[in-house]
Amino acid sequence: MDKISIEELTNFCKAKGFIFRSSDIYGGFSGFWDFGPLGVELFNNIKQNWWNYFVRKKDNVVGIESSVISSPKTWIASGHVENFNDLFVKCKKCKKNFKLDEREFGKVNCECGGKFEKQGKFNLMFETNVGVTSPEKTYLRGETAQGIFMNFKLIEQTSRMQLPFGIAQIGKCFRNEIAPRDFLFRSREFHIGEFEFFINPNEKKCPLLDKNHLQVSFDFIDEETQKKGKYNLKKVKIEELIKKNKLGEWHAYWLAEQINWYKLLGLNEIKVREHTKDELSHYSSATFDIDYEYPFGSQELGGNANRGQYDLTQHEKFSKKDLKIFDEKSGKKVLPRVIEPTFGIERIFLALLTKAYTFDKKRDNVVLKLPANLAPVKIAVLPLIKKEEYIKIAKNIFDEFKKIWNVDYDHSGSIGRRYFRNDEIGTPFCLTIDEDSIKNNDVTIRDRDSTKQVRIKIKNLKNILNDLIDGKINFDSL
Ligand code: GAP
Repeated sequence: MDKISIEELTNFCKAKGFIFRSSDIYGGFSGFWDFGPLGVELFNNIKQNWWNYFVRKKDNVVGIESSVISSPKTWIASGHVENFNDLFVKCKKCKKNFKLDEREFGKVNCECGGKFEKQGKFNLMFETNVGVTSPEKTYLRGETAQGIFMNFKLIEQTSRMQLPFGIAQIGKCFRNEIAPRDFLFRSREFHIGEFEFFINPNEKKCPLLDKNHLQVSFDFIDEETQKKGKYNLKKVKIEELIKKNKLGEWHAYWLAEQINWYKLLGLNEIKVREHTKDELSHYSSATFDIDYEYPFGSQELGGNANRGQYDLTQHEKFSKKDLKIFDEKSGKKVLPRVIEPTFGIERIFLALLTKAYTFDKKRDNVVLKLPANLAPVKIAVLPLIKKEEYIKIAKNIFDEFKKIWNVDYDHSGSIGRRYFRNDEIGTPFCLTIDEDSIKNNDVTIRDRDSTKQVRIKIKNLKNILNDLIDGKINFDSL
């Protein structure tokens, strides 16, 4: 099947209640989007999955939620007020506006073939004023990282964390993008999930890096290849990048963990791109983008930056507070260095939908093949016909399961029509209650992807569905 275009996906998401334009009744508001009932379920499932993997299951990472607006000194110290700029260009032919990286200027043309002309640099931070009598100018956060850096010492003291440790958060970020585009991909309000991992600057070894991490393999494009103007990918393993000194051990460990998580979501097609020196953010000494093949090309899904001591040094300087902490292992006070894995949550949402969207010719219908554990609705409970005995069994199952999962109950329309609706929104399992259910205390489970059906005793349903949703068993094993 041809990949769905981004316009088709936008329309599909609107029609099914995943995503709507913000302020739709006023003609929309560029760069802002609203999550509908199904979208918010899928989005929350992604965030929850991320949190479980990177915070709950890690002994050395804790979570926080910091404020969206903070002292303007935050953003002066972090360098965002001075350096968080994009180059604003206009196409001489079609007159459309674009943002470019400085290094791209002169090398790329507009999609219409026209040449770009520079309009100037543009700061991405959203300004706002706080207070009424003497309003103070500040900014909506452009990244969640700064809330972590500013709380770092408090967390070390109050949560009794010892180096090395990480602090994570998922939250809204705001960037006044010059040209929001490609649906959720480049918007002005979006969520970043990221953590700052703090390490003694003299500690080069990562004891958590095991042979499984070293063997993690992926398609890679290095700086040298890009400098030659080429974009061919090479399959590499993490261990090769360590040997070539492209990655230190901690950086390698977190990149491998990121890739492993994307693979758990089924996004196996990710690629890793090394930043060239001239495109590094002002705070990074080495960055690796994790890219995904979207309908509009291979683009950044997330990244992993070596921020070194940049941010803590800047906050020490501007706040005049000592942010060094005592490192038990070395017995010395140190200012930690930092590795930062970062994830664009809307971009993950978009990648998952792009991958899941399938047009099934036999069914003449869209089937949204989302991983069961992320699907917005896990189970649909469907009495075959509107008969009192069927409805009674169905309602009992629905009432029990809605305590655990997001479950749908539907007795309207033909059973084929109801399967059709659930396939479109990605419900992995439909339970049908029929005449035999009354006699045998069982139901049929229908699998979204294969349409196969199996009869299961009601008393065993909960455990089986649990294992199916968690991926502990597959449908064929029933
Ligand atoms: N703290 C590091 C940081 O902010 P970034 O690469 O600028 O790094 C993190 O942003 C992630 O946020 C990116 O990898 C991308 O997935 C996502 N992102 C960035 N700008 C975005 C935008 N305008 N709309 C949606 N997602 C965006």
